[in-house]
Amino acid sequence: MEKFYKQLIENNREWVRSKTENDPEFFSRLANGQKPPLLWIGCADSRVPANEVIGAQPGEVFVHRNIANMVVHSDMNMLSVLDFAVNALEIQHVIVCGHYGCGGVKAAMDNRSIGLIDNWIRHIKDVYRFHHKELDVIQDDKERFNRFVELNVIEQVHDLAKTSIVQNAWNKGQNLMLHGWVYDVKDGLVKDLNISLKNNKSLAEVYQLEF
Ligand code: CO
Repeated sequence: MEKFYKQLIENNREWVRSKTENDPEFFSRLANGQKPPLLWIGCADSRVPANEVIGAQPGEVFVHRNIANMVVHSDMNMLSVLDFAVNALEIQHVIVCGHYGCGGVKAAMDNRSIGLIDNWIRHIKDVYRFHHKELDVIQDDKERFNRFVELNVIEQVHDLAKTSIVQNAWNKGQNLMLHGWVYDVKDGLVKDLNISLKNNKSLAEVYQLEF
């Protein structure tokens, strides 16, 4: 255990060496500030590291992660990240990235209580309820699980669009696009679900804010 922990510091020193070897100004440039063009909202799963998946260097992507890449409209953490990303950093793209094999989504298909997290998983169960007609007819468990992962991402992209932060930015004419992706832990490839949004027109009327 001690050895493992010490190794982390050594790994850090090695990482700094590799970054500065051919680019001695690497860290001093970053110290001047950040202007990433992109916000990533992904799962906390250790197999889905935001930067690595899209080949982004430090300074290139603003990141929020939680269990099952959820956009919960009362989550102050998510709202604060989103507000800062949209209004201070003026990012142009938000990617919600789910992943096949997501433990949070799997738990939402099950009825077994697993403790406090049941209350978080509840939001994912709501997605199942909205789409139960489509999901219930899929006979193959694996196939149903995969489709549930995709539908969850689609719902979270729409939930992002419903926020006052995103609708206010669109109303001001800010260039902001929302995207939904699914990452496959088996081969490392992302799939664009082609549900990108750049205005609130596809939302049910009741969610469309007027300013
Ligand atoms: Co996950």
